[in-house]
Amino acid sequence: MVDLSTTYLGLNLKNPLVASASPLSEKVETVNKMEEAGIAAVVMYSLFEEQIIHESLELDHFLFYGSESSAEIDSFYPQSGKYTLKAEAYIETLKKIKQSVNIPVIGSLNGVSTGGWIKYARKIEDAGADALELNLYFLPTNPALTAKQIEETYITLVSDVRKSIKIPLAVKLSPFFTSIPNISKRLVEAGANGLVLFNRFYQPDLDLENLEVTPNLVLSTSNELRLPLRWIAILYGQIKTDLALTSGIHTAEDVLKACMAGASVAMTASELLANGIDRVPAILADMENWMTGHEYESIKQMKGSLSQKAVKEPAVFERANYMKVLNSFKTLP
Ligand SMILES: Cc1cc2nc3c(=O)[nH]c(=O)nc-3n(C[C@H](O)[C@H](O)[C@H](O)COP(=O)(O)O)c2cc1C
Repeated sequence: MVDLSTTYLGLNLKNPLVASASPLSEKVETVNKMEEAGIAAVVMYSLFEEQIIHESLELDHFLFYGSESSAEIDSFYPQSGKYTLKAEAYIETLKKIKQSVNIPVIGSLNGVSTGGWIKYARKIEDAGADALELNLYFLPTNPALTAKQIEETYITLVSDVRKSIKIPLAVKLSPFFTSIPNISKRLVEAGANGLVLFNRFYQPDLDLENLEVTPNLVLSTSNELRLPLRWIAILYGQIKTDLALTSGIHTAEDVLKACMAGASVAMTASELLANGIDRVPAILADMENWMTGHEYESIKQMKGSLSQKAVKEPAVFERANYMKVLNSFKTLP
């Protein structure tokens, strides 16, 4: 028997497969099913700053996840394919989930600026959450706003949330920073106990026939794994924090790659939304088979073994490799 256990944010987990924030955590029964299937922990869907301060629900949904979604995703929503639960209902759902499962449950707040709304971090803690994930997502459209200003807003928010709770705090960020290592370091200094890389942006498309913007949501594929994989491999060992990989986890191989890059956990949403919760035991069984076949005894043993610090050719993660990759591309005869 291989040992799949791992630790994340000080929590002991039976394996590294975690359900990332999605409509799958809206219903207690679905979380029960995920626990039975073997998921190690669940991140709740987010409570948005805008929901708390009663601003436009439509806007946040459009920016974050698109206002239209596919049939399989719609089936997970309580009504009309939109988030309808408000702040207090969120806390109630979290309490119910905590009462009915034994696996760790991580609450999720999604916001940009510090303010009264962050009192919900404490409410999430009081509701029994084992940790909190803070999703930082801001889409700058004003050319006058500088990267420095935006990053300072993030740092203030993280430090204020950190001060208001005792449970571990993870920060989920996007890949759109000029220096990911620098912002990561500062977020950790501001009090983040873990970093979740990366938030996935839902890009609106243009409908040429109807001359409209179509903000539809497309689920990920394993190809999207490469971006967080590279950055986790670069950050592992350099930034003293727990790393969680999100975006593109669909198979056992994806989870194993995440761990070898240095992630403590691999989070998945699209795979479970598209192919069902039964994928959890299948992925776990495939992981065990692969590890047995390759003589690995534990996840701990493989963690970070393909990080930038550990590989023979660290430049493969850097610019030096860029030219080599371009030159290796062969055009068709
Ligand atoms: C329908 C849907 C809803 C989501 N809702 C949230 C959310 O409320 N908060 C959050 O931080 N991420 C949310 N996400 C992002 C996922 O947690 C995850 O980070 C992202 O989908 C990338 O992982 P994947 O490739 O496994 O889908 C959502 C994703 C989907 C597909």
